[in-house]
Amino acid sequence: MHRRNFIRLSGGGVIAAATVSAVTLTGCAQNMPMEAIEAWRGPAPELATSDVRRWVLSYAILAPHSHNLQSWVVDLSTANEIVLRCDLKRLLPQTDPLSRQIMMSQGTFLELLDLAAKERGLRADIQLFPEGEFGAQRLDTRPVARIRLTPDPAVQKDPLFAQVLLRRTNRSPYDPGRAVPAAAWQAMAQAAKPHAARFGHTGAEPAASIAVHRKIAAEAWRIELTTPRTIMESFDVLRVGASEIAQHRDGLSLLDAKVVWLDRLGLFDRRKAPAPDDFATTSQIKAFGQNLDSTPGFLWMVTERNDRVTQINAGRAYARVQLSATAQGLVMQPLSQALQEYPEQRKPYADIHALAGATQPGQTVQMWARVGYAPAVSPSPRRRLADFIRV
Ligand SMILES: Cc1cc2nc3c(=O)[nH]c(=O)nc-3n(C[C@H](O)[C@H](O)[C@H](O)COP(=O)(O)O)c2cc1C
Repeated sequence: MHRRNFIRLSGGGVIAAATVSAVTLTGCAQNMPMEAIEAWRGPAPELATSDVRRWVLSYAILAPHSHNLQSWVVDLSTANEIVLRCDLKRLLPQTDPLSRQIMMSQGTFLELLDLAAKERGLRADIQLFPEGEFGAQRLDTRPVARIRLTPDPAVQKDPLFAQVLLRRTNRSPYDPGRAVPAAAWQAMAQAAKPHAARFGHTGAEPAASIAVHRKIAAEAWRIELTTPRTIMESFDVLRVGASEIAQHRDGLSLLDAKVVWLDRLGLFDRRKAPAPDDFATTSQIKAFGQNLDSTPGFLWMVTERNDRVTQINAGRAYARVQLSATAQGLVMQPLSQALQEYPEQRKPYADIHALAGATQPGQTVQMWARVGYAPAVSPSPRRRLADFIRV
């Protein structure tokens, strides 16, 4: 049998993939543990009448974050104020070496916080980097933002707030026969506007353009999967099966019965990167390629500069775009691999920047995502609200 038909075992051996799928998997079918997704029920009822900051934060922690790392820490020691810092233990040094995506993920948090504050008639004055901006290479312990909440009758509620509990990153195949309507693209572009990111998109026409998007995304995915240190970074935050998910309530959740079964038997070795021709690698490349082929639309967001404030604002814009898509019944999945700043991605990085018209110095594609229609998926885990509050 060809080597591709084998999965690497933790002891260094291999198992025939065909054998795995032939085995009965009863007993390994797993559901997302309820406690891991309790945050998606919204704030605990008692928070409606207590400190409004905790109510607002119950929504902010539902923000999208790269690898679902949830690298948010808040300090509530000053009345009516929230100080946001980045949890420096929750970074992705291999795939996000400049922490650009971590900064965007601080922005998504701030956007949801702002939407929730408005819902309660509060003006959120968000001062970014009150003690100075991080440098281009490294983050530090200084605050990302100081937020002051003040009741203000002039504050208007934002209809995007209604989508916060419904938003999901959807990694499934999309319906290839259902194009994204022009009005939906228009609504997404409009949603991005407050934060100065140039919004672009392509749909089924012209076919040549969408084919180029698929090709770049597939190649970037192949590179990430076959570069040992970058795939290992994902393995480190992979939570396999209900009990691991319930224990960590962060990271990338895997509930696939086959994988859970292999893991239980000690046959899924997460301490070692699979070889490029292992089934674990080739099957993922194939599945991702199929997902790309099913995708009827792609969007991108370009900024003129790439400083920390710009990255945060790009995250805010992305959160709004995804909420707007949710309102249209659309789903999306970011495609970050080609946007990542590690050397192996140099070619896909240049290709997607050229395609998005971001070729001048500083111009940066901050977000690239596939968009379409797909059946609903489970929400992703979140830690307890108390886990984010340090003081
Ligand atoms: C800056 C950024 C980059 C992301 N990149 C990817 C990506 O490349 N692939 C992917 O599947 N999801 C990506 N995501 C989505 C996160 O994985 C997702 O937000 C997280 O797992 C939580 O899931 P949720 O969005 O359903 O709440 C990204 C999110 C952000 C904010």
